[in-house]
Amino acid sequence: MLWDAQAAEYARHGEESWALGAPRWGIWGVPESGLGVLPDDLSGKDAIELGCGTAYVSAWLACRGARPVGIDNSEAQLATARRLQEQHGLAFPLLHGNAESVPYPDASFDFAISEYGASLWADPERWVPEAARLLRPGGRLVFLVNAFLLTLCVPAEDGVAATDRLLRSAFGMHRVEWPGDPGVEFHLSHGDWIRLLRRSGFEIEDLVEVRPPDRATTRYPFVTLEWARRWPCEEVWKVRKRG
Ligand SMILES: C[S@@+](CC[C@H](N)C(=O)[O-])C[C@H]1O[C@@H](n2cnc3c(N)ncnc32)[C@H](O)[C@@H]1O
Repeated sequence: MLWDAQAAEYARHGEESWALGAPRWGIWGVPESGLGVLPDDLSGKDAIELGCGTAYVSAWLACRGARPVGIDNSEAQLATARRLQEQHGLAFPLLHGNAESVPYPDASFDFAISEYGASLWADPERWVPEAARLLRPGGRLVFLVNAFLLTLCVPAEDGVAATDRLLRSAFGMHRVEWPGDPGVEFHLSHGDWIRLLRRSGFEIEDLVEVRPPDRATTRYPFVTLEWARRWPCEEVWKVRKRG
């Protein structure tokens, strides 16, 4: 399983993220104070993280008073999450399962979030309606993904950063497999996201195009700071379930 094999690589980032005093998001670690990913008041809210990996986002939610549940389909990622729970003395449910089909009743949660989890690796036609089913009316979904523009500009070769050229077609983009990479990513145009989200019962509240601060760094080779300061390489969708 892809993520079982990659779990060791993600453990250090998980450890660092669990230890942060305040959330930092995405590949540049942009502070929550500058991005406002999380709703102001999470206290007492039921929350679910879809594709939680090492579950540091769930830990941040718990520290803000929410009752998080993390779901991930990699046992190895969850093993790191459980170790970090123990280390930090923070307990919340971690489920081994698919975010496209979550074993919780309808309307179980007030808040759902995914940072490059289900939002990138699960089929949006399945996980978005599933998130809508899990949320109570008025509940919020927030997810972080690679910006669509970046996906158009990243060369297929591993380790090569995005250029200032459009290297693939925008129309019809959905399931993306990179040569030499066993994973399957999903990338939608903004119009396709908007139609899917609305069809699934969400109203769009915001689309935040992330601009990393000057001198930000990333461990990922697919984009440079110079590029990311000029064009959006990550985006945060904030939507609310109608009702
Ligand atoms: C890049 S990690 C992101 C999670 C977290 N933010 C982190 O960095 O540890 C992607 C995670 O999504 C999980 N994932 C991928 N597809 C999934 C699915 N359909 N259901 C649940 N989890 C999924 C993987 O197992 C992996 O742990």
